[in-house]
Amino acid sequence: MKISDAMVSAINDQIKAEFDSAYIYLAMSAYFKDAGLDGMAHWMKKQYTEEVEHAEKFIAYLYERGARVIIPDVAKPKESYTDALEAFKAAYAHEQYVTSRIYKLVDLAISEKDYATQSMLKWYVDEQMEEEDNTSSIVAKLEYLGGDKHGTYIVDRELASR
Ligand code: FEO
Repeated sequence: MKISDAMVSAINDQIKAEFDSAYIYLAMSAYFKDAGLDGMAHWMKKQYTEEVEHAEKFIAYLYERGARVIIPDVAKPKESYTDALEAFKAAYAHEQYVTSRIYKLVDLAISEKDYATQSMLKWYVDEQMEEEDNTSSIVAKLEYLGGDKHGTYIVDRELASR
């Protein structure tokens, strides 16, 4: 069964969202590097790599369905944050936004009875659950510390092992 034009367009939009996400995290990595928080910079750099992989996975899927891929412009990300908590809160909120986008893709695939796309999207539904969990647990730790520098240093060391 041929993939619909609407679905191809929605997946191309999501490819842009994944590259935008990658840039957001690369900018957060640069922010942390500048702040001397190398562990958080490393964590965000890994996240950047994962987001590029998410985009590439959608690209590979469109190729598999014989559809046209449009390589998008990437939005300029925010450069600076007040502290680590604000950055990780933004990352968590961003992941919730991406989850809502993935759910809309699932809704479209269901409405079109596009079972292949539904099956492909299952991976992203599971991945989003993990991404929200990862970012929200770091937010919880930083909130608990309430800006304590020693504690933030320990979390930074912990995130270096990602
Ligand atoms: Fe590709 Fe973090 O969602």
